[in-house]
This record gives sequence, C-alpha cells and structure tokens, in this order.
Amino acid sequence: MYVDPNHRGQGIGNQLITRCHATAGEQGFWKLIAKIFPENESSLELFRSTGYRDVGIHAKHGQLDGQWRDVCLLEVLLHIEK
Ligand SMILES: CC(C)(COP(=O)(O)OP(=O)(O)OC[C@H]1O[C@@H](n2cnc3c(N)ncnc32)[C@H](O)[C@@H]1OP(=O)(O)O)[C@@H](O)C(=O)NCCC(=O)NCCS
Repeated sequence: MYVDPNHRGQGIGNQLITRCHATAGEQGFWKLIAKIFPENESSLELFRSTGYRDVGIHAKHGQLDGQWRDVCLLEVLLHIEK
C-alpha cells in the first residue's frame, strides 16, 4: 500500500485497511495476509495497528534487482461465524 507522501499521517492508510477488512468479510473471506519488507517500518506498524499479527519471515522470498529479499508475513483473522 502506498499513500501519497503529501497526505501521510492523516489516517488514510488506516481507513483503506479498515474498508478492505469490511469488504473482504462481506465477501466471505476469513483471513487476510500481508507481506512487507522488513525495513518498511511504517507499513509494518500500520498493519499491526489494524490487527495484524506477525507470523514470521520468509527468508530469501524472491529476488529484486538481483538481490535476495526477506519478507515479513503478517495475518489478520476477520469475523468468523461460529
Ligand atoms: C505506510 C503508509 C501506507 C501509511 O499510510 P498513512 O495514511 O500515513 O497511515 P495512517 O495515517 O493511517 O497511520 C495509521 C498507523 O500506521 C502507523 N504508521 C503510519 N506511518 C508511520 C510511520 N512513519 N512510522 C511508524 N508508524 C507509522 C501508525 O501505527 C499509525 O497509527 P497512529 O497514527 O495512531 O500512530 C504510508 O506511510 C506509505 O505509503 N508508506 C510507504 C509504503 C511503502 O513503501 N510501501 C511498499 C510496501 S512493500
């Protein structure tokens, strides 16, 4: 997720994720996952602040510009009917 640098820190990222959760839940999804580069602290904190938990790290998940990159895996459980 990217928010225009001129509009960060105004709750837009939070609103986008919250809306995404509501829409996914309405459509029957029960879980969403996020894969985020470890150095992207703002994104990690954004997703954690909206209920995602850290699952672990995919080591050398793929190559970007010829460099192996690790990726953090996070997940959130949406409303599940009992
Ligand atoms: C991460 C990003 C989407 C956040 O969007 P935003 O609209 O600024 O976020 P919000 O204002 O809704 O902030 C919600 C929460 O996110 C976290 N957060 C946002 N920016 C943060 C920062 N710079 N540092 C730490 N936490 C941050 C905080 O927990 C914040 O809650 P708080 O305001 O109560 O502290 C935005 O900073 C961005 O586009 N960054 C670049 C993303 C990027 O590189 N993506 C590539 C992924 S591979």
